[in-house]
Amino acid sequence: MQIELEINGSVELIDAVEGEDLAAALRRNGHTEVKCGCDGGSCGASTVLVDGDPEMACGMTAADAEGESIETVAALGTQSDLHPVQEAFVDHFAVQCGFCIPGMVLSATALLEENPDPTEEDIRAAIDDNVCRCTGYQKPVEAIQDAAGRMDTLAADGGVPGGADE
Ligand code: FES
Repeated sequence: MQIELEINGSVELIDAVEGEDLAAALRRNGHTEVKCGCDGGSCGASTVLVDGDPEMACGMTAADAEGESIETVAALGTQSDLHPVQEAFVDHFAVQCGFCIPGMVLSATALLEENPDPTEEDIRAAIDDNVCRCTGYQKPVEAIQDAAGRMDTLAADGGVPGGADE
């Protein structure tokens, strides 16, 4: 069956098998930036934004997402113009194997859009569903704290995160 989704700002018709989870359908249709870790809606690797809210794409069917606006990490920055959250993760050495990072960056971005000045507790709560086996979470937390300041500065300058290539 075909399912219509808005993915990263563009309307796409994707092929999905009956009952297939959204993560698998997105990956089969070229969105391999969406990672699959547990396939059971528990590790957070498949996190995407659904209408702006972080959701594990392996924990919902593609059919349930019909008509929704989906953002993957590809909606943020580009390699030559990273989003402030991505830039902060790099600068703070918050990435090791990287498998959890697309989902964690999206959870962090959603937090900062809603709460530009989060406490450490807010940050830890926001990435609570994003399991990372490598970093111990301290460096990602520091990166997200720094990213909050970077996004404030960007907003004050009238900039758009990841907008230089647009
Ligand atoms: Fe390896 Fe998080 S960086 S799982």
